[in-house]
Amino acid sequence: MRILLLGSGGREHALAWKINESVWTNPLYIAPGNAGTVQCGKNISLDITDFDAIGKFCISEKIEMIVVGPEEPLVNGLYDHFKASDDLQKIYFIGPSKNGAQLEGSKAFAKAFMKRHNIPTARHQEFDSSNFEEGVHYVKEHALPVVLKADGLAAGKGVIICHTSVEAVSEFELMIQKAKFGEASRKVVVEEFLNGIELSVFVLTDGKNYLLLPEAKDYKRIGEGDTGLNTGGMGAVSPVPFATPGFMHKVEERIIKPTIAGLHEEGIDYKGFLFFGLINVNGEPFVIEYNCRMGDPEAEVVIPRLETDLVGLFVAATQQELDTVKLRVDERSSVTVMAVSHGYPGNYEKGFEITGLKKDAGKETFIFHAGTKQIEGKILTNGGRVLSVSSYGKNISEAADRSLKILDGIDFEGIYYRTDIGYEFKSQISRNV
Ligand code: AMP
Ligand code: GLY
Repeated sequence: MRILLLGSGGREHALAWKINESVWTNPLYIAPGNAGTVQCGKNISLDITDFDAIGKFCISEKIEMIVVGPEEPLVNGLYDHFKASDDLQKIYFIGPSKNGAQLEGSKAFAKAFMKRHNIPTARHQEFDSSNFEEGVHYVKEHALPVVLKADGLAAGKGVIICHTSVEAVSEFELMIQKAKFGEASRKVVVEEFLNGIELSVFVLTDGKNYLLLPEAKDYKRIGEGDTGLNTGGMGAVSPVPFATPGFMHKVEERIIKPTIAGLHEEGIDYKGFLFFGLINVNGEPFVIEYNCRMGDPEAEVVIPRLETDLVGLFVAATQQELDTVKLRVDERSSVTVMAVSHGYPGNYEKGFEITGLKKDAGKETFIFHAGTKQIEGKILTNGGRVLSVSSYGKNISEAADRSLKILDGIDFEGIYYRTDIGYEFKSQISRNV
């Protein structure tokens, strides 16, 4: 099967590695990919927001399956673009329709969907310029902390947790009246703060059935001990020890099943990954957000734990036959540690040579590339998040130590990574071993 994968991060390197292992794959193209994905297929220089260019490439290369890594093309309707074209509609498409992707693309859409289907989430109200004064009053009177969310996509930056009413009102004004996050914050969801521990749960769905993938926890803050600025993710672990069978049963019954049934009932086309950003409040799961894709860096721990042929699963998803397949999961723990550029998540420089990549990392470790590029035989940094080093272990502690040991031998100017990924679970034995 001739496959095109869109994206260029650590998530896409993990997907490319797994897709390339499949008996179905021949060949794999990655657009635009990074210096790591060239080990799994052929990188193609394509702008993933240019739907016409993607379509032309698919026709000229006789692509049979397209897998979309990041949310942006999905939220902008790449699926619908393919389905509307006689030449493209038969291509197996992994990713939801524009409507389905609104679960991530519009917080207000997601909230209304959850309300319609009785899915547990934080209480909220939404405001825009038409009810701005009412919103100011609402925000001022709201219990603290209060959560303000830009309705649209804001590159992971559109959520502000405010600890004083003064801050909340001023941020609210900036978002709606000064378009702090551009068009994305012309509408704002004001939400109650939920106190608990977060985790990421994933399914692959065909719009009717779903397969529950291994869960993960990511570490969003830049500093050790979860301090400092929010990032795209500094590391992740899977499995998550507090995701016990009892807790996951609640997640499936109260959240996953009503979500998939809701998509089906509402006639929303959804064949792809669905990511539930959850929070565990005293043992009860609530939805913080939906994403219409795999997580990054969660993919770098979840994908290595999948033993089943991923392309086979994708084919079953496109045929709405996921109820006929079984997922096999590696029982080992998996931990990824992200190496980032100096200055990230603020300003950083790119173009530094990465050394130490050629050494054999062993069978227990994968070095997934994120922001990297290859120029004249050298591998250079090309983003904030540079490498995601994932290892297996008999528990989280062993897996984390393995990744750190490999990172010891890797260098680029200004390299930084957290040495405490999975810290709260290190004294516990993973429930799966
Ligand atoms: P999001 O962009 O929706 O992923 O939100 C970013 C982060 O804000 C989440 O990962 C949570 O840590 C936090 N957050 C969002 N909504 C809430 C909430 N209602 N209560 C507590 N924390 C929240
Ligand atoms: N790691 C969180 C995300 O991918 O959105």
